[in-house]
Amino acid sequence: MIFIGLLSIKGVYNNWKGATNMISAIIYTSTSGSCEYYAREMSRKLAIPCYEAKKCGLPKGMEVVFIGWLMNGKVTGLDAAMKDYNVKGVVQVGMGAPTEAQEKVCRSKHGLGADVKVFSLQGRFDMDKLPVYFKPVMKMVNKSIVERLEGQSSLSDAEKATLQMAKNGKGEPATWDGIEEAIEWVKELRNPLDVIKWHEPT
Ligand SMILES: Cc1cc2nc3c(=O)[nH]c(=O)nc-3n(C[C@H](O)[C@H](O)[C@H](O)COP(=O)(O)O)c2cc1C
Repeated sequence: MIFIGLLSIKGVYNNWKGATNMISAIIYTSTSGSCEYYAREMSRKLAIPCYEAKKCGLPKGMEVVFIGWLMNGKVTGLDAAMKDYNVKGVVQVGMGAPTEAQEKVCRSKHGLGADVKVFSLQGRFDMDKLPVYFKPVMKMVNKSIVERLEGQSSLSDAEKATLQMAKNGKGEPATWDGIEEAIEWVKELRNPLDVIKWHEPT
């Protein structure tokens, strides 16, 4: 009797969870640490667990925020994550200066619905932390970024940061504070029943 009662409570909870927009976890991909930093910052401030996407093994369909780095205009790992989880928000992180147009590109490249929130942030670039096979192409990309930005008469702080990254092969974003807006958005949607509930990878 008690068992049946517990089962039905669990059923009601799961239905309620599925019918709401509540976020239970943050998952991320990162090679040089920016997305990991943003994920940990969000996790720390909201007491929502964060996991590296490849290893996370969370329950299928779980509502999550995805934080991933840009590779040739696509968010690394996002398509795979969308197969397993209900991605409610995406934070895309690149070395370029964030622009409004990036959101549209992200939506069309990943087929995101209007109900998925998208944030665009700048992260760091660090040639030394990249797998060796990315280095030759990034040397060429960086050269063309330097040519383009040095040809502009004035640069925003974020563009100046990009220029430094491209010139030196490493550098930090103009600010790390951009994540605050995403944190504020998630704050309203976090699942109170999953706060501080960490899932062991399966
Ligand atoms: C192969 C490759 C492609 C990249 N493509 C882009 C890009 O299209 N747009 C962009 O802004 N940054 C691009 N970047 C830069 C990374 O997205 C940026 O350094 C990001 O902050 C890395 O995040 P992480 O520190 O979490 O690894 C690229 C980097 C690599 C290695």
